[in-house]
Amino acid sequence: MFKQVKAHDLFPTPIWSLDLEDERAGRLNRQILAQLDRMLSPRPEIPIGATWQTDQNLHTLPAFAELTEGINKAARGALDFMRVDYSAFEITACWANINPKGSLNTSHTHPNNYLSGVYYVSVPKGSGVIVFGDPREAAGAILPKVTEYNAYNGNEVTFEIKAGRFILFPAYLRHGVPVNRSEEERVSIAYNIMFSAFTQEMSRPLWSGIPLDKA
Ligand SMILES: [Fe+2]
Repeated sequence: MFKQVKAHDLFPTPIWSLDLEDERAGRLNRQILAQLDRMLSPRPEIPIGATWQTDQNLHTLPAFAELTEGINKAARGALDFMRVDYSAFEITACWANINPKGSLNTSHTHPNNYLSGVYYVSVPKGSGVIVFGDPREAAGAILPKVTEYNAYNGNEVTFEIKAGRFILFPAYLRHGVPVNRSEEERVSIAYNIMFSAFTQEMSRPLWSGIPLDKA
């Protein structure tokens, strides 16, 4: 009956994943864990269920230069992919999360930034997912039963993670991390990205006024 049928995926929500080469990931992760141990010396006992975070300045420390390079490369790639026109962006915060057994990160967004992401340093078995929520609140008003979950139905997506993987996503996208059911710590490094000169270069209207004599 129809000459052509096509679903047009408008307003997609991109989540990028970038995996380091195995050798580089192993070396970088050992280096990051050693550095965190040095920063946490003497290492405090993290109570079961608590999440421990470093200061948010890791991107300014030479010991994290290789990680920072990866974050910047990933962000540049994402902005180019979306054809965003910008002069400069910067990492506005970068911090480590240490999640021992029983800890979790409740659902949240990262306001006042354009992109957010995480690099995974240590992901023990049983702690390897992050859950993203549908940012289209209205779409959750009716959630019919489905024959199969896919990108067109449901209101959250469980996303696989592993050590050596960067993920990057719009900062408005709600996400959370379920309980770490492993005996070992999950270690990740979170980061935010924002345009350096947002008010100067981007917050003006995208249109220009029509002079009165041409209106
Ligand atoms: Fe987060």
